[in-house]
Amino acid sequence: MSTKAKKAPHPGKCMRQEAVALGDGRTLLIRPIQAADALPIAGTFHLLHEDEIRRRFLHPVKALSDDYLMRLTQPDPETDFVVVAAEPFEPGAALIGAVARLSLDDNGGRAEFGILVSHFVTGLGLGKILMDRLVEWCKEHHVRHLWGDVLDNNQTMLKLAESMGFTRESRHSEAGITRVVLTI
Ligand SMILES: CC(C)(COP(=O)(O)OP(=O)(O)OC[C@H]1O[C@@H](n2cnc3c(N)ncnc32)[C@H](O)[C@@H]1OP(=O)(O)O)[C@@H](O)C(=O)NCCC(=O)NCCS
Repeated sequence: MSTKAKKAPHPGKCMRQEAVALGDGRTLLIRPIQAADALPIAGTFHLLHEDEIRRRFLHPVKALSDDYLMRLTQPDPETDFVVVAAEPFEPGAALIGAVARLSLDDNGGRAEFGILVSHFVTGLGLGKILMDRLVEWCKEHHVRHLWGDVLDNNQTMLKLAESMGFTRESRHSEAGITRVVLTI
């Protein structure tokens, strides 16, 4: 049996915590999600508009299940990465304004993203900052393609994706949904 110790994966630059001053005077922390964020996320989910939830999940969602919250807030570091924009307080006490997530596909070569910037902090640049952090994770983990499904009428996300170099993948199109893909 090999006695060679398994090398711990390097945390990577994308795991850093960074304070971001929003144009409206507020400061939020961009940081990886923590298990303690589950409670504030669950507790404020009802404050989101139906429409923004549908844009994120592509269908209505009434509440987040315990199982979903556990997988979201305790991501497997080998296959998942979740970054949040949070109030500058301890995890658990801080409200979460935005969440961006990626999950590796089964074969590991591609990752799917999902993002929700709540209406309390949209239009202030957080979407771009969080998407950039997902791309950074992909670079660090040699993931060549980042993709996501976006409702056809979600012009904000389609424009944001386009401005970052994502292209539309027509062969995957499902009625009402556009798949966007970034080759990294
Ligand atoms: C789409 C979304 C992530 C954008 O987040 P955001 O923080 O508002 O985005 P940013 O502030 O970084 O803006 C990105 C671009 O969109 C534009 N934009 C932002 N809000 C806009 C709005 N309400 N109307 C039109 N354009 C808008 C910005 O001007 C910016 O373009 P620019 O760089 O040319 O100025 C956010 O609206 C959201 O979470 N929506 C609900 C969930 C969703 O749609 N998820 C995507 C599918 S998984």
